[in-house]
Amino acid sequence: MTLRVALNSETKILLAPMEGVIDAEMRAVFTALGGFDRCVTEFVRVTEQRIPDHVFLRFCPELHAGGVTSSGVPVYLQLLGGDPKWMAVNAMRAEKLEPAGIDLNFGCPSKTVTRREGGSVLLREPNRVGDIVAAVRDAVDPSVPVTAKIRLGFSHTDDLEDIVERVIRAGATEVCVHARTKEDRYKPPAHWHEVRRVSGLTDVARVPLTINGDIWSVDLAGRALAESGAQHIMLGRGALRSPDLALQIKQHQQNVPYNSMPWNAVLTMLITYLTRSTNLHPKFVGNRAKQWLGFLLVTYPEAKDAFQSIKTLKESDEVLRELSNISRSLG
Ligand SMILES: Cc1cc2nc3c(=O)[nH]c(=O)nc-3n(C[C@H](O)[C@H](O)[C@H](O)COP(=O)(O)O)c2cc1C
Repeated sequence: MTLRVALNSETKILLAPMEGVIDAEMRAVFTALGGFDRCVTEFVRVTEQRIPDHVFLRFCPELHAGGVTSSGVPVYLQLLGGDPKWMAVNAMRAEKLEPAGIDLNFGCPSKTVTRREGGSVLLREPNRVGDIVAAVRDAVDPSVPVTAKIRLGFSHTDDLEDIVERVIRAGATEVCVHARTKEDRYKPPAHWHEVRRVSGLTDVARVPLTINGDIWSVDLAGRALAESGAQHIMLGRGALRSPDLALQIKQHQQNVPYNSMPWNAVLTMLITYLTRSTNLHPKFVGNRAKQWLGFLLVTYPEAKDAFQSIKTLKESDEVLRELSNISRSLG
């Protein structure tokens, strides 16, 4: 199947949640560039207590502005926890801040199954996954989308159909599958074809399915969709390596010629991100720049020199000055 057949005008591109990497400022610069239809926040951990508003607002400052980025792209707030009751209580609290949607995390690695824990460990208990989705679904207004992000399983994929059936029966609006088990961690390859096993279930239930994992290029986006039978795609590390990947995919889909972003434009994007982040701790901002340059290195060899020139710098203003000098020297 060609990419254009696999992709259609209904295909949405989601920016993946990435704890410690993709924050609100990064969502702002990515969605300003274009191509993305939705973002998901880093996870908010739910324990046996009521989460105060300021915590939701810290993870999702877009809640101050209608739950969308400055470019108008909706941001879903992600919750992670193992107790249906407390997930419901906190989803209701979050709902008051009017997020564009609530996403439930069943993918993050964690070691033990306790009532407090959430993430991929719950995939060992498909009934609890269903209970959590149902509790959250019942707790918030039907107009609020409740989506679930899962992996193929914890240590095996045998329960995938059961998990997805329960998620659908519990009333999830959409399902996203990172096509690996928890034990696969991030080891390549992602097993997109395994997701095909549940695409019939989601099709019949009319619950949109999103494929995630190792989508690094336009071609791989088409292959991931074709192999999985999913309707939508989610990009995480692929977007960090090639910030215009979503845009490339959209342009390809519309048959519009597109030249990948030149290095200086990427550097400008990084500088914009850092400038927007200056309210954060100066050391944090410098580290974020190094982290992102680490991803960019794979696509842009020029990122190596930029990385070398800032690697010993500690303060954000030094990092910004150095990167701005490099950008100016490129013209
Ligand atoms: C550093 C890092 C942080 C992540 N944080 C989250 C998170 O907060 N919530 C979540 O559901 N997934 C999280 N993930 C998983 C990603 O959303 C995504 O499923 C995974 O990276 C595979 O997609 P990719 O190959 O496009 O990166 C994280 C992944 C990484 C590498």
